Amino acid sequence: MTNSSDGGGHNGEAPPRGYRRNLTDYGDRRFALYLRRSFAQSMGFSRELMDRPIVGIARTDSGFNNCHRGVPELIEAVKRGVLAAGGLPLDFPTISLGEVFLSPTSLMFRNLMAMDTEEMIRAQPMDAVVLVGGCDKTVPAQLMGACSADVPAIQLVTGPMLAMPFRGERLGACTDCRRFWAKYRAGEVDDAGIDTIEANLATTAGTCAVMGTASTMACIAEALGMSLPNTAGIPAVHADRIRAAEACGARAVAMAGRGPLPSQIVTPRSVENALRVLLAIGGSTNAIVHLTAIAGRRGIPVSLERLNALSDETPVLVDLKPTGSHYMADFHAAGGMDALLWELRDLLHLDCPAVDGRTLGERLREPAFVDRAVIRSRAAPFDAVGGLVALFGSLAPRGAILKRSAADAGLFERTARAVVFSSLEDLAARIDDADLDVTAEDFLVLQNAGPRSPSGMPEAGYLPIPRKLAQAGVKDMVRISDARMSGTAYGTVVLHVSPDSASGGPLAFVRNGDRIRLSVRERRLDLLVDEAELARRRAGFAPPTLAERGYRRLYADHVLQADQGADFDFLRGDHA
Ligand code: FES
Repeated sequence: MTNSSDGGGHNGEAPPRGYRRNLTDYGDRRFALYLRRSFAQSMGFSRELMDRPIVGIARTDSGFNNCHRGVPELIEAVKRGVLAAGGLPLDFPTISLGEVFLSPTSLMFRNLMAMDTEEMIRAQPMDAVVLVGGCDKTVPAQLMGACSADVPAIQLVTGPMLAMPFRGERLGACTDCRRFWAKYRAGEVDDAGIDTIEANLATTAGTCAVMGTASTMACIAEALGMSLPNTAGIPAVHADRIRAAEACGARAVAMAGRGPLPSQIVTPRSVENALRVLLAIGGSTNAIVHLTAIAGRRGIPVSLERLNALSDETPVLVDLKPTGSHYMADFHAAGGMDALLWELRDLLHLDCPAVDGRTLGERLREPAFVDRAVIRSRAAPFDAVGGLVALFGSLAPRGAILKRSAADAGLFERTARAVVFSSLEDLAARIDDADLDVTAEDFLVLQNAGPRSPSGMPEAGYLPIPRKLAQAGVKDMVRISDARMSGTAYGTVVLHVSPDSASGGPLAFVRNGDRIRLSVRERRLDLLVDEAELARRRAGFAPPTLAERGYRRLYADHVLQADQGADFDFLRGDHA
């Protein structure tokens, strides 16, 4: 029998709970529990509280993460929910990834945050965990870590910012950031004007106000079943966001010791549901990398061929920026995820369980309120086919991604001349050169910006239109790279070309003037250069110099390609 001074969990007893979990290893379990409890007493907890199930709360507030400004208030609400439901809430810090505050790019540190989250869930004595995150890489990192640790977990997102009225229109980060920057580059907005805009793009707590990566990942977390129903789109500053936090705390107590576990929630069928939702919301291209990494933690492959099949039969149903005209707060007010999932229900696997203890089918018993101005019906979709497609061909043997819902269909079927930039530095140095040999019909190609490049796959795939063309009124061009693109961006931008150029993929061997054929209809991306010439170019390939030490060395040695989620090889669920 386990008693109050015994760590328990050995000799066939029930698994230890609360402070008895994961005891520090002194070779004496009773001593370890005694010592732990004596130190926990110093926190001033009563003995009654200390005997409760423990709910960990992963907190990610940081002075370097504006999108998590509301986290302290959410943490207090989660704690309230835990205490009221009979648990003991203990918050703990992990690293936080503020998208625009990290160099060279936040993606490089997503796996570090995932490792931090996984190990702290596993090492500390918690029976369930509430993961509080929001900004682009934080939610995937937390879900990756939770899937690997496999302790009952609920994802609570910080919620989107509000788009605020400003001089006759609404402004919200960050599609409007890009719109005004393009105007500035084209000379339509002056220095004073862009300063004024800068001060009015992001004005409340929360994540970017459009269906960018953060909001896409919030919707995906809910579609997977890892968040409470209809919480993905609640604005950060709405009282319902705080109520959702309290509900997460209460629900986590119910899950402690009982589950469901992430391994029961994240399955091939729920991953396919998440892919459907990704397509139906015209979501961020980044999400395909993140979902692949999350699923990979459970050994579940995500096939880009399957993505294409789903994309052809899953319409875009939401009219949201960056592909449409509304903001995330409008999506939630229009019915949010309840309305979207109801609309998609015949395409979804309804037997998938979720953190609320119900299957998706049990959740979707009744039609939800819906405002058709924002969330369309299947009969009259925003776009008849899904937002993303994968392209394959001699330039991308393992695939590339195009967000067709945010692209110019007039550019989809063409063969053109490549204008090549060999690196981000080369791009910055020459893109606005008045003597650059480029026309609007060319394809802009960026090399050495993939996962194995020293820059760690930054959001540089949205190459700027060369200034002289922008000033002549060119709004879009075909752009091809192994980089990513912000979920708030738009344009005919082919991303994630795999294998990437730093690992010697075909992209590394494109030269100025080569012909490239793009056919979105055929899902093709081909480099029209004969094999003998490519063999000659391959012979001169020199991989980039690896970082010498620390996390960057670990990253360089173990990062996988985009089609495997850019996770580390040793962290995937199928790692032997
Ligand atoms: Fe944090 Fe956009 S910068 S969500």
